[in-house]
Amino acid sequence: MKVIGINGSPRKNCNTATMVKKALDGAQSKGAKIELIHLYDLDYKGCKSCFACKLKDGKSYGICAARDDLTPILRKIEHCDALILGSPLYLGTATGEMRSFLERLIFPYLVYDNEGSSLFPRRMPIGFIYTMGVTEDLLDEIGYHQHFKTTERLAERIIGETETIYVTDTYQFDDYSKYVSTRFDPEEKLKRHREVFPRDLERAFELGGQFAKNR
Ligand SMILES: Cc1cc2nc3c(=O)[nH]c(=O)nc-3n(C[C@H](O)[C@H](O)[C@H](O)COP(=O)(O)O)c2cc1C
Repeated sequence: MKVIGINGSPRKNCNTATMVKKALDGAQSKGAKIELIHLYDLDYKGCKSCFACKLKDGKSYGICAARDDLTPILRKIEHCDALILGSPLYLGTATGEMRSFLERLIFPYLVYDNEGSSLFPRRMPIGFIYTMGVTEDLLDEIGYHQHFKTTERLAERIIGETETIYVTDTYQFDDYSKYVSTRFDPEEKLKRHREVFPRDLERAFELGGQFAKNR
């Protein structure tokens, strides 16, 4: 049983990475082997639309033909049992690195047929973790969920069941007094970080444990 966690934040020890690590801890607590990958350590691009993955009788049919740092990671994912994908919200969506990663992960397995077939070799659960500055109320009001549902639906069709955790109102700066950020109340932010973020981490731990237990 192997669970791979992908950190789609440039920061290796902040909100997103901490959540992904906690989910991996949860999986490990149930006996899974774990691996954490930081996308920003890798040199890669998104899908280049070469369509080698769709070429009839092509040697890369169903596989991404691009060769870069993501190539071995995509091969590893074919053999793991669950994925945890974490990303901060950047301008209303996942980071560019996470989007590029998802293009390369999902598109090669997606068959252009009327049945919506998948070439992924089996079903595997995916946990999405999104961290963001907006409050829970604003998350609903802006309707970010709808956007993420599109990705979830696609991942469900192509790879396997999905679970999503939203972490709102995150603590963004090491010291709010150093930055122009009058929109935020530093004390409220710190309070939430101390009181609510630990509960978010518990949810991540449970998610990882649940993925490992159900396999
Ligand atoms: C370039 C950039 C764009 C952002 N855009 C949004 C946004 O659209 N909505 C939001 O709620 N938070 C936004 N944020 C805040 C981050 O999503 C939030 O602080 C997140 O928890 C950071 O994750 P990290 O600590 O793992 O880096 C943005 C931050 C950056 C740096």
